Amino acid sequence: MRIGLCFSQSQLDEMQLRDKNVIVIDVLRSSTTVVTALQNGAREIIPVGSIESAVKISGSLFGDVTLRGGERNGKMIQGFNLGNSPVEYTEAMVRGKSIIFCTTNGSVAMVKSRYARAMAILGFVNMSAIVDFVRSLQSDIMIVCAGRPPVTGGFSLEDAVCAGMLVQRLSDEKSADVELTDPSMAARSLYKSFGKSVLKMLKNSDHGRYLAEIGFAEDIKVCAQIDSMQSVPVLNGTSIKLRKNETGPAEKEAPKVPV
Ligand code: MLT
Repeated sequence: MRIGLCFSQSQLDEMQLRDKNVIVIDVLRSSTTVVTALQNGAREIIPVGSIESAVKISGSLFGDVTLRGGERNGKMIQGFNLGNSPVEYTEAMVRGKSIIFCTTNGSVAMVKSRYARAMAILGFVNMSAIVDFVRSLQSDIMIVCAGRPPVTGGFSLEDAVCAGMLVQRLSDEKSADVELTDPSMAARSLYKSFGKSVLKMLKNSDHGRYLAEIGFAEDIKVCAQIDSMQSVPVLNGTSIKLRKNETGPAEKEAPKVPV
């Protein structure tokens, strides 16, 4: 298995991800929010790349079963029902709902993966579930870190460290036939340096400090909880749902997915 990696979605376009097995990471906070929402029974997450698309799409969907979630500068977008804090996505709020999801980097990375062969969402919160999922693919993967906007250099420490943890876990087994690329080796080194305390690393990261400043310090703790959830959110057409055979509390029937 060859593990490719891109440190920022801003360096990629959708054709580069076409037919690949893509793992999207946006630890703070889109990945964590998507995993939480689906685990709490959301029907699906529909990622969009802009506020305009979110407004356009929600106009054609039924009001009471559709919510708009997302952020700009970390804060809820005007006219939306939810921000991008995982703690807002409670079962009472999201059960059975389709959520149109628009964030600065995370949902853009998800949209750019729309022509992927398979795409799954990873945060620290569902690490082991994704390790098992990737092993089950028995195929090359491309890890895509959402990262930060190009103006800040595109790189985010927390996404790189999470990617490095995945690389470490996949190459751990002696029998593992894993080929690392330069970026995946670099990410693994970052994980070895910064992964001893994920919470401390998140608190010290640029975006972690910004989130604390604007009042979301509690979110950082939620995003740091390794394996607090077992869900594998995967691309299913144009939306993201729980992987086949997984059901959240609201969804008794497994969604149909192409993987
Ligand atoms: C993003 O997509 O850039 C984010 O997840 C930002 C955030 O809400 O923390």
